[in-house]
Formats: sequence, structure tokens, C-alpha cells
Amino acid sequence: MSNRYAVILAAGQGTRMKSKLYKVLHPVCGKPMVQHVIDQVKSLDINDIVTIVGHGAEKVKAQLGDTSQYALQEAQLGTAHAVQQAKDILADNDGVTLVVCGDTPLVKGETMEALFRHHEETGAKATILTALADDPTGYGRIVRGEDGDVEKIVEHKDATEAERKITEINTGTYCFDNKALFAALENVSNDNVQGEYYLPDVVEILKKQGDRVSAYVTESFEETMGVNDRVALAEAERIMRKRINEMHMRNGVSLIDPSNTYIGSDVTIGSDTVIYPGTTIDGSTSIGPDCIIGPNSEISNCEIGNNTVIRQSAAFDSKIGSGVNIGPFAHIRPQSDIHDEVKIGNFVEIKKAVFGKGSKASHLSYIGDAEVGTDVNIGCGSITVNYDGQNKHLTKIEDDVFIGCNSNLVAPVTIGKGAYVAAGSTITEDVPGEGLAIARARQVNKEEYAQKLNRKK
Ligand code: UD1
Ligand code: MG
Repeated sequence: MSNRYAVILAAGQGTRMKSKLYKVLHPVCGKPMVQHVIDQVKSLDINDIVTIVGHGAEKVKAQLGDTSQYALQEAQLGTAHAVQQAKDILADNDGVTLVVCGDTPLVKGETMEALFRHHEETGAKATILTALADDPTGYGRIVRGEDGDVEKIVEHKDATEAERKITEINTGTYCFDNKALFAALENVSNDNVQGEYYLPDVVEILKKQGDRVSAYVTESFEETMGVNDRVALAEAERIMRKRINEMHMRNGVSLIDPSNTYIGSDVTIGSDTVIYPGTTIDGSTSIGPDCIIGPNSEISNCEIGNNTVIRQSAAFDSKIGSGVNIGPFAHIRPQSDIHDEVKIGNFVEIKKAVFGKGSKASHLSYIGDAEVGTDVNIGCGSITVNYDGQNKHLTKIEDDVFIGCNSNLVAPVTIGKGAYVAAGSTITEDVPGEGLAIARARQVNKEEYAQKLNRKK
């Protein structure tokens, strides 16, 4: 196998997106398009990956980090000019260079590998990944010569009526003999409708000097679609979503309605977990086996154990253990750490709180900035009063505590192990372990008061 390199084109503004966000950073199933591309390229054995950045260069670099080297394309003069920016890093090397556009998020690593193989087998100087499109509008068209090889690629805008009828399109993914590529790039001109230096023009240059240019036709046009506007973005999202959902179903996850289930690219889910409709799961979320999630739930960046149930609820940036029961209508806010067998019931909001094993907040509570021990029962309507208008304070509820309904725990405050708080209390001082705190006015009963009132009438 020869040395392999990859160049990813990601410098364009993406005018057709009509967006403040640079095109290649638009997410598809929660992950920026260019990250999808890099992740697939990374799955191959590549010596150097160079990403061409320009518009939003700093943001693209921040997204991709050190998985790639970078070359800056200061003015976006076209895709050939973009590749040329990698000259200092790559031009002197022997080997094969894969060029991929940052706006084709669906191209799979295995297709790139097949393209490399095909290229190496045929000994062509360039191999184009092509596809047959039902509607080729907007794509470069593959013009085949009499020998059946690729003669040239014509951009849609430059194509004649006859050429526009060609349905074989340039997917924007190519393999080149590295040295032949950089030599040919020197000869690309911008004499075309858009006044740009087109990378596909390299084909004609190679052909004219007698080199062989081959095409590798992929079965799936869907996989190669380029995203230039929001309509295509939504289409890419649909295709990617289907791909992700099918992968989970094949792994043993039940999706009751896959067309109405939204799972991010990096989410992992264990087998026999059932996901009900209207559920979005994204970021780095991992869910163990045998869970029930949804319907209508939103889960982002959570680590969830097994046998846990989350119904009609939202959970963000938190850890949720095994055998936990959440919802309906609960809100788990960031930095919560919910241990095994905890119950968080309806209309309960949890923020930055640890819940020890077996503890419960079953109804209508706010528990924020709190450390709750094991087997604690927090009665309906209880609140940790964590904010004094300036600062947030911690509430500690030790193991086996019972908090009566409708209590306010004014932080900072500690409720000692095994203590009781009487219903309706506003607790402002620590409660000793095993003690009972009652912090409310004593009840006064006025006998026959109703008669007195009636007399007045
Ligand atoms: C390009 C191809 C077209 C192909 C299609 C596949 C050219 C001239 N045309 O068209 O044949 O069918 O992709 O999707 O290559 N970019 C830069 N610097 C530039 C210009 C573009 O980095 O100066 C990057 C863009 O960020 C983008 C990629 O190159 O990621 C492709 O550019 P785009 O403008 O989308 O080209 P298309 O018109 O889609
Ligand atoms: Mg494009």
C-alpha cells in the first residue's frame, strides 16, 4: 500500500446557506458536517490529514482540534486553489491523496477505502468517486470519452444543454497521485462562468498529458450528496438519522417510531432498551441496556445505567445510575449525579445535586446545589432554597433523612443522618442527626368560630 494523505476542503463561506454559521460547521444529527467527514477519514489508515480553512478558520480548527493539520486559504478562489494551499505540507510526497469536501457529511469511510483500492488497482493518476443522480442539478457532470474513461468534468453552470442531461455526477471525493495532483494544479485556470479555479479541471489536464483518469461509481447517490443549502441540510439530516437509527435497531435497541426518534451520531445505547417517539438523545450520551426512554424526552450528554426509566422528561450533562425512575415531567439539569434506584417524580427539578442510592423526590420539588444521602425521602413540594440573591449555597441531606412535604431548606444547611423535618417547615439552622425539626407556627383551633361568623351576617 502506498502512502496515503487526505485533504478536506472547508474554507468556503457557504453563501447558499444564508447563515452566520460557516457551512461546514452546520450540524447533521448534532455533529458539524466537517466533523463527520474527518471522523470517516480518521477511520482509514492515513499518514497526513490536511484541512483547508478560510471562512471561520478559528472556529473550524477549534472544532477539529489536533486530529488534522491545517492550511489557510485566505481568499476563496475555488476548490483547486483550496487544495493548492496544502502544497507546503504535501507536494513533495510520493503517495495517493484523497480529497473530500467538508460539505458531504454522508460519505462513509468504507466508500473512501473502496475508492483508494480502486485507484491503486487501476493505476490511474486520478480516480473520481461518481454517482448516478435522479436530479443532477447543481453538480459537476462526468463526461466520458470514447474509451469509457473520464474525459472531463463540467460544472453545472458551465455545462451545455446536452451535458446537463448527463446524470453521472462528481461527488467531490477523489483520489489523486499526489505529485501529479500538485503539478496539474499549477495549470488550472479560472476561465469559466464563476471565475474560480476548479479542482475538477485537473481531470482534463491529466487526460491531455496522456494520463489515465478513472471513475469509481458508487451505488448510493444518497451517501454522496453535497449540502449547499438548508433544503439539502434537512435531507442529509433525514438520511443520517435513518442510518443511525437502523444501526441501533440492528444492535438490539427498539425504536417504536424511528421516523420520530432523533439520536445523535455519538450516542451509544444498550440492547433491549426501548425508545418511545418524540425523543431526542444527543451529545456524548450513553444509555445502558434494558432502559425505557420517552415518549417526548430530551437527553443530552448523560451517562445512564441499565434498567432505568425516563418518561416525558429532560436531562442534561448528568450521570444517572441503574434502576432509576425519572418523570413524567422531570428536569435534570447539569452536573447532577443520580445514583442507582433513585426516584425523581413528576414536576421535580434537579440541579447540580448528588442523589444517593434509593433516595426519592417523588413530586413537585426543586433540589439544587444539594448533596442527598442514601434512602432519603423528600416529600412533595420541598425546596432547597439555594440562592440568596447573590450566591448559591449547599444543602446537605444525610442518609435516611425524611423531609416532610412542603419544606424549605434554606442553604447553607445540613440535615443530620436519620433526622426528620416536619411538613411545612422552613429550616434555617442545621438539624442534628436522629432529631426532629419543626419550624412553623403551632396550630391554633378556635372552637365554634363558624357560628361567630354566621352571627355577624
Ligand atoms: C463541488 C464540485 C462539483 C461537485 C460538488 C459535489 C468544484 C468546482 N465543483 O461543487 O463538481 O459535483 O462539489 O458536492 O469543485 N471550498 C474551499 N475553498 C474554495 C471553494 C470551496 O475550501 O475556494 C470548499 C467548500 O467549503 C466546500 C467544498 O470546497 O466544503 C466544495 O465547495 P462548494 O462551493 O460547495 O462546491 P459545489 O458547488 O458544491
Ligand atoms: Mg458543495
